[in-house]
Amino acid sequence: MERETWATRIGFLVAAIGSAVGLGNLWQFPFKTASNGGAAFVVFYLVAVTVVGFPALLAEFVIGRRTHVNAIDAFAELGHRNWRVVGGLAVATGFWILSYYDVVGGWVLRYILGSATGAYFDAPGEYFGAVSAGPEAVLAQALFLVVAVGIVAFGIENGIERATKVMVPSIAVIMVVLAVWAATLPGVGDAYAYFLSPDFGTMLDNAGSVIPFAVGQAFFTLSLGMAIMVTYSSYVGEDDSLPVDGGVIVVTNTLVGILAGLVVFPILFANDISPDTSGPSALFVAVASGFADLPLGRVLGVVFFGVVLVAALSSAISLMEVVVAYAVDNTSYSRPTLAGATGLGLFALGLPSAWDTAWLTWFDTIAYQLFLPLSVLASVVFVGWVLGEEAVAELRQGTGGLDTLGPVWLWTLRLVVVLGVLGTLGLGFQTLFLGSDAAIVPPL
Ligand code: PFF
Repeated sequence: MERETWATRIGFLVAAIGSAVGLGNLWQFPFKTASNGGAAFVVFYLVAVTVVGFPALLAEFVIGRRTHVNAIDAFAELGHRNWRVVGGLAVATGFWILSYYDVVGGWVLRYILGSATGAYFDAPGEYFGAVSAGPEAVLAQALFLVVAVGIVAFGIENGIERATKVMVPSIAVIMVVLAVWAATLPGVGDAYAYFLSPDFGTMLDNAGSVIPFAVGQAFFTLSLGMAIMVTYSSYVGEDDSLPVDGGVIVVTNTLVGILAGLVVFPILFANDISPDTSGPSALFVAVASGFADLPLGRVLGVVFFGVVLVAALSSAISLMEVVVAYAVDNTSYSRPTLAGATGLGLFALGLPSAWDTAWLTWFDTIAYQLFLPLSVLASVVFVGWVLGEEAVAELRQGTGGLDTLGPVWLWTLRLVVVLGVLGTLGLGFQTLFLGSDAAIVPPL
């Protein structure tokens, strides 16, 4: 059977933006910013996105478009069979992340309903406790998965491309509208200052603990290390300019993260809610209780969580596609069957996270501190040091040049990105393995 491709270049761009813009921007970015020192974190994050994230994104694009196969077999196609294990690690990392991502997707579904009925308005903390763990969370997780499987079952052009073409522009428009509305809230000046004016003293003092989070966040938000960008770019033609497409994706994704901060922090400050109520519940307890106190809170709640849901779905389908693409290339089962089987596997692995948020936090920590940096490291070492000039040649395709930028990219990848990720891994290892409450220990 002939392999599918994106119907249009915009189709690829929009799907990749849909993958990048997700819970990472709307749920994690505000609370990770708050728990890592506010604006100081934003600075580290922007640097990490630019010097580490962007070059690494292009590296994944090069693997995918050079080979036009799934993210594991791509390495064999390039003549390096042994490196397939790197593809395997990326797919496993993605599967791991999606298992708890779906659980949060389920919470979002619940919160759309809860906003419409005002169910959490009286006691936001208790409501979160009731719906975020246990049987209700399991059910919501299953529902979220069913929708995602439904889209992926239709394939690239008719499923993913068609869905994201509607989803992504609506996210952008609604986020802008919400940010404009949030600018009218009382106390907005303090909120902006908290989010956007860095205190360099604090920043440097905390650099050691903040940098790994900033780099991890850059990878997560750009969907790196999960084989997603390799898979999506494998459906791209040779006449697209990968650096231009990558630039558009990075800029749009960063803007949506900033917009999320411009919506979330004013809501918190307007309601005297401390922004550093850190942790996964921030959006669901702190922001949600903001809606309870605002005029038109129900409508705003539905719109806000509606956007979060769309963003989460367009990311989840990208990750599901990674697994389904591998299975489609390697088995004779139909795409819908394989999508369903993938959904079942995700449901099973996500059960601990749905049962208890302590597990969800544990899965998230392991992903951030271990799997993501390891997986990105392996793929950039491969592209930078093993593929080398071949990678530059592929990057040049469709650009009409890159005589200087090609080598600059290669050396950035070989040195800056590799060292940056190694440093991040080292610091992450301290959190994971050293100290009295080593994070690697599961919350049994
Ligand atoms: N870039 C996505 C985000 O920021 O939410 C990361 C992601 C996570 C994509 C999980 C896909 C996914 F299933």
